[in-house]
Amino acid sequence: MIERLRKAALSLLEPGVPASSLRPEVLEMMAVLASSRGSWSPRTDDIAAGETRTPDGVAISPTMAAMCADDFMRTIAFVRGTHAAIVDARKRAPDRPARVLYAGCGPYATLAMPLMAVLPSTEATFTLLDLHPESIASAMAIVDALGLSGSVARYEIADAASHRLDPEQPPDVILVEVMRACLEAEPQVAVTRHLLRQAPHALLVPEEVRIEFTLVDPAREFDPDCIAQNRQAAPRDRIPVGLVFTLSREAAASWAGCPGDQLPGATVCIPESLERRYQAMLFTVIRTRGNHVLRDYDSGLTCPRVPSIQGAIQPGVAVRFRYALGSHPGLCAEVLHDRQADCGRDSDLAAPIGRPCCGGGGRFHAAS
Ligand SMILES: C[S@@+](CC[C@H](N)C(=O)[O-])C[C@H]1O[C@@H](n2cnc3c(N)ncnc32)[C@H](O)[C@@H]1O
Repeated sequence: MIERLRKAALSLLEPGVPASSLRPEVLEMMAVLASSRGSWSPRTDDIAAGETRTPDGVAISPTMAAMCADDFMRTIAFVRGTHAAIVDARKRAPDRPARVLYAGCGPYATLAMPLMAVLPSTEATFTLLDLHPESIASAMAIVDALGLSGSVARYEIADAASHRLDPEQPPDVILVEVMRACLEAEPQVAVTRHLLRQAPHALLVPEEVRIEFTLVDPAREFDPDCIAQNRQAAPRDRIPVGLVFTLSREAAASWAGCPGDQLPGATVCIPESLERRYQAMLFTVIRTRGNHVLRDYDSGLTCPRVPSIQGAIQPGVAVRFRYALGSHPGLCAEVLHDRQADCGRDSDLAAPIGRPCCGGGGRFHAAS
């Protein structure tokens, strides 16, 4: 089994091989993990059963967490990004293994197992952390069955958004994948912020998540012929408007003084002249590390979403974004009636914004 996993892992890490061609290797890896998982088994009926509502967002069920592996471009980008972060962490501290904290490992510890299979424990050790005890039990069973226990420093059943790190042994790499497109619903922002506060020098995977506001023509964006073609060649019709929110180490550091339950996003301006056919959408771009990037449609995590905006989007208006923390995290936005707003600037957190933000639904309203 370990040889099968190692072979699949080496293929996933092979430089220059496009991730889009490697689904068979991800399926092979999943087969090995599934057959080594001990007594836990995924549900076949209600796959969402067992999810947990935390104060910072939803922790998806162990069954759904196991299924994430099959979002294979995502899996490969995160495995490659984590590998790159370990290589860089080893350059900083070559005399000891890189310490990797994997927050939200799920029942298969999908993003760590292939790295444990190819890296000796002298190069990297992993702390596997999840809120759900059955996920940790399954990850432990797989590690034992594959003979990888030397690569695991600790198992933790904990909420990563309140977990205390050992200050004597801070992680060199923090790997977090508790997210959805547009950083909605799951606690990626809260977990990242909390862990980075305690280990500000750790390398973060993903290194950066950007959310961009774009106007699209839905007829071209979702035209089956365009979708069926080579994605690069698809003649989509888009107007980029601006970056509205970033999650990164730098961004988290800049929030140090932000009190309360909101983080600043940017204010963007809708062009003065715009045809009716355009619809507002948010695009998520995830850079796990270096050139390992997931763009629109590569993964469920980067599927474009319609933003929820208070007020009607009209040519020339400004739209102010903020990120709401709490049990239903996500971006919210409002149309500013005073066009004097400084477009491109971070939002002023002093001014209140309502939650939940609903209304215009992102559809462009032509001025009459
Ligand atoms: C999207 S799944 C990812 C599973 C796996 N890491 C992968 O990438 O395939 C998110 C996992 O994070 C866990 N999780 C979510 N919020 C958490 C939190 N606040 N603390 C600890 N674990 C959390 C869930 O239980 C789930 O196993």
